[in-house]
Formats: sequence, structure tokens, C-alpha cells
Amino acid sequence: MQAALTIIGEDLKLVELQFRKDLQSDVPLIRKVGEYVLSSGGKRVRPALLLLAARLCGYTADKAVPLASVIEFIHTATLLHDDVVDSATLRRGLASANTLWGNEASVLVGDFLFSKSFSLMVGVGSLDILRILSDATTVIAEGEVMQLLCTGELELSEDKYIEVVRSKTAILMSAACEAGAILGAVAQDKQQALAEFGMDLGIAFQLMDDILDYTATEEEFGKCIGHDLEEGKITMPLIHTLRHCTDSEREIIAAVVEQDEMSLEDFRAVSGLVKQYGGIAYTVDAARTYIDSCKSHLGLFAPSPVRDALLGLSDYVVTRNK
Ligand code: IPE
Ligand code: IPE
Ligand code: MG
Ligand code: MG
Repeated sequence: MQAALTIIGEDLKLVELQFRKDLQSDVPLIRKVGEYVLSSGGKRVRPALLLLAARLCGYTADKAVPLASVIEFIHTATLLHDDVVDSATLRRGLASANTLWGNEASVLVGDFLFSKSFSLMVGVGSLDILRILSDATTVIAEGEVMQLLCTGELELSEDKYIEVVRSKTAILMSAACEAGAILGAVAQDKQQALAEFGMDLGIAFQLMDDILDYTATEEEFGKCIGHDLEEGKITMPLIHTLRHCTDSEREIIAAVVEQDEMSLEDFRAVSGLVKQYGGIAYTVDAARTYIDSCKSHLGLFAPSPVRDALLGLSDYVVTRNK
């Protein structure tokens, strides 16, 4: 992460200013909710990916910052909607927007951010980038709906789960990297390599997120621990556990997944099984495999400090605790 910040730290500051500007609206509640979420300190991984990908492709002109802001806008819109869908109460260590302003306001401000993203993209003036990012938002919506349909599905296969992860999370990281490549006007093979880099990195990112939902501390993670399980979301650590546990243990898991509320005792019982059957270790291994693959896509680019920063960002994904 540090290498990335050295290179794009200044640009990231400009991104913060840009999206504060982009958030302007005559409707005060939009500014209020938008500012609240945008100022609450996300990691800005997606803008960083776009900025670094653009640099890697030799782009130095002035469209990278506004586009990086758009990417964070899209991400923020998905978070506002996702927290409603997931009944989340905590986001980035603070009360979630739906907790403070209600579901209606969160959905509507999320809609504003989505729509605004499209006007901003049109302003950037690249039809290719518009296509990549609008396709990505469609796929994210599909991913979130697929995940909804898989809720409580104990038979969920690993392949199906990875498909959900590609759609709900990885596609936006892939699109961020690909948009950077388009700005740099590199050849098709390099554009493709960066898109695949972002996809594999995004899958690893979500797998680590799934692990942190079992292992992190709420203070560091900034989200409620055990919330996936409470919401009946069958993620990779649990998929692995369900494949190996006994029938009676499966019954215990099923009961917790089906309940609306989960006690600390329930969570401890299931997370104990997840650890016992190596669900965490298995998922870390899977994430590392995706990170190895993601790094290999950068082989097409000559060694440089920017390439090293992207490699460093990849390592950060599998070591992060927030
Ligand atoms: C949260 O993304 C949603 C997932 C894809 C897991 P981030 O972990 O990037 O969220 P912020 O922006 O840093 O809060
Ligand atoms: C991440 O969803 C993907 C989107 C927000 C579209 P999750 O529900 O897995 O992520 P968190 O845990 O709420 O950040
Ligand atoms: Mg969620
Ligand atoms: Mg969700």
C-alpha cells in the first residue's frame, strides 16, 4: 500500500476534492448522506487501482482523477444499497446510513450516486470507458440479486459462489483497472491483462472479506463480525466447512443460518466449526491463489515502480485486517 501511496497519494487527495464537488446537489439530504458516507474513510482501493493502472499505461493527463472519483461514487452507491439489503448497522466503524436516515433515504441517495456517476462518465467523453463501467454496474446488480437468491442455500457450490463474487465485487475492480488501461490507450492484450488483474484481485479481496467476517475485530474491520452468518450468507469458509462436517454439525449450522437473530454462543459454535474444518485456511489459500494469478497478468508490463505498487497492492489484499 505504501508504494502505491507514494506514487498516487497526491492524486488520491485530488480525488477526495473531486467527489466532494461531484456530490453537490440542491437537495440537502443528498449532500448530508453522501458526505457522511464519503467522509467516513473507506480504503479507496478502487480509485487507487484506476490511478495506478492509468499510470502503468503511461497516462498522465487530467481524466484519471475525475474517473477515479466516479469509481468511488459507484462503489458508495453499491454500499448504500447493500447495507439496506443486508440490514447492516455498521459501516466504516460508524452507524450505517440506513441506521441513521432509514432505508428509503439510503436507497434514494444510492440512486442519486449511480445516476450522477453516469453523467460524470459522459463528461469524461470515452464511449469505451462508459461501456465498461455501465456493464460493470449491471453485473454488480446481477451479483447482488444472485446472492439474495442464494441466501440460506446450504448446498451452494464453490463455483456458484465465485460467480457471485465476480459479479458483486470483482467486476468493479476489474472495470477500474480496465478504464485506466483505456485512458492509456494501450494495445488490447494489455487492456485485457489489466482487466483480468482486477478481476482476480477483486475475487481475493472478497474472499478475505469473508474471512474477516469470522476472524476480525469489530474495531479494526469497522463492520459487525458474524454478520454474513447472521444474514444467512453462505461464504467460502462456510462452504468448505459444510463439505466436511458431520450431519449433526450440519444441523447446527442450518439452525443458525435459518434464525433471524444470532447469539454470540451460536456464532462461536459455527465459527468454531469453521476453524476446526480449516474453512479459514482453505479460503486464505484460495485468496492467495487468486493473488498469484492476478500478479501474473502484470508480466506483460515492463518492471517499474508503478508495477511494483500494483504488486504491493495485491499483497495488501491478502494481509489486510480492515
Ligand atoms: C466493501 O468494500 C465491500 C466489499 C466488496 C467487501 P471495501 O472494503 O473496499 O470498503 P471501503 O470502501 O474500504 O469501506
Ligand atoms: C460487497 O457486498 C459487494 C457490494 C457492496 C456490491 P458484501 O455485503 O459482501 O460486503 P460488506 O460486508 O457489506 O462490505
Ligand atoms: Mg453487505
Ligand atoms: Mg451484501
